Amino acid sequence: MKILVTGGTGFIGSHTVIELIQSGYDPVIVDNLSNSNISVLDGIREISGKVPNFYEIDCRNREALRQVFEIEKPEAVIHFAAFKAVGESVDKPLEYYSNNIGSLAILLEIMAEFDMHNLVFSSSCTVYGQPEQLPVTEESPDKNAASPYGYTKVVCEQMIKDVCHSKVALKSAILRYFNPIGAHPTGIIGELPNGVPNNLVPFITQTAIGKRDTLTVFGTDYSTPDGSCIRDFIHVVDLAKAHLAALEWLMNANTTFEIFNLGQGRGNSVLEVVKAFEALTGEGLNYKIGPRRSGDVEQIWANVDKAERLLGWKTKLGIEEGLRDAWNWEKQLQAKEQIRS
Ligand code: UD1
Repeated sequence: MKILVTGGTGFIGSHTVIELIQSGYDPVIVDNLSNSNISVLDGIREISGKVPNFYEIDCRNREALRQVFEIEKPEAVIHFAAFKAVGESVDKPLEYYSNNIGSLAILLEIMAEFDMHNLVFSSSCTVYGQPEQLPVTEESPDKNAASPYGYTKVVCEQMIKDVCHSKVALKSAILRYFNPIGAHPTGIIGELPNGVPNNLVPFITQTAIGKRDTLTVFGTDYSTPDGSCIRDFIHVVDLAKAHLAALEWLMNANTTFEIFNLGQGRGNSVLEVVKAFEALTGEGLNYKIGPRRSGDVEQIWANVDKAERLLGWKTKLGIEEGLRDAWNWEKQLQAKEQIRS
């Protein structure tokens, strides 16, 4: 079965492509490579033994995307392609609204035109803002996203919901990711942040390997047990597997629109992550305590009962495995860079 994966050379997309291949699907990748590298395809081949058909296309290019539908005739779409940096979205809101919302609008039109109705959509826990009750369920009423990036996800979810409830027979699983970490256990693919990483774990591994001087822990004056923020960190391989579970559920589902939280269902603080990394490597990490980062929520973790009940999915890996695989990936990246230079 052909599955179109937009953003399939990105961090979560590439891991999902591997899971799809290993489960007998035939993924087709569309990616404009704006935040990923073509070499990811080599990594996918090395791990899975296959190279998916690849189209270097921006999803806002309607004619090019139409042609992919015409050639490939996919039966479902997993839509990852989007910008995802919270801070950057504050500086460049129009780029975020144009790319994230524009891509989805065009994709939905083309899906309707080709009478193709199955969509798995990549959303984020950012739509919850700071929830009043923890753990947060999919019914949490407070969608006070704190950034333009967050609002693009709110708007995209609403667009999909409206189309599902219209006469277009769209069916969609909306996946709200918590904090993805880790890399493929082979160390062959992983996260490739452009420039200085925004996210915690790439910053930790880059500091440990010497690419960055010091990790700053953004705030230890929150109302949490150790004062640092709390997040629900989910291994990217667990997350990738959730996309398969969602896809299979969607193909057989009677309901047209469902939202799923994807996390471990538990929170870890930033300082806990730092200490777990130090325990893993047996070395001290160069870090300092700094001021809060603007826009950060204090604490959030997921209630994942719904995904477990309807998708038959739950995480198998913890932060230790996530940190181990992220570290392994960082070391392999460095080794490759040394060979090249
Ligand atoms: C946010 C979104 C998430 C989105 C992600 C995309 C929320 C609740 N989460 O994740 O949905 O997918 O952005 O990028 O809106 N930290 C440090 N030092 C650093 C980096 C991070 O202390 O150098 C801390 C942050 O203050 C935060 C935690 O680590 O408390 C996690 O930060 P990060 O990895 O950037 O992810 P979120 O901001 O939680």
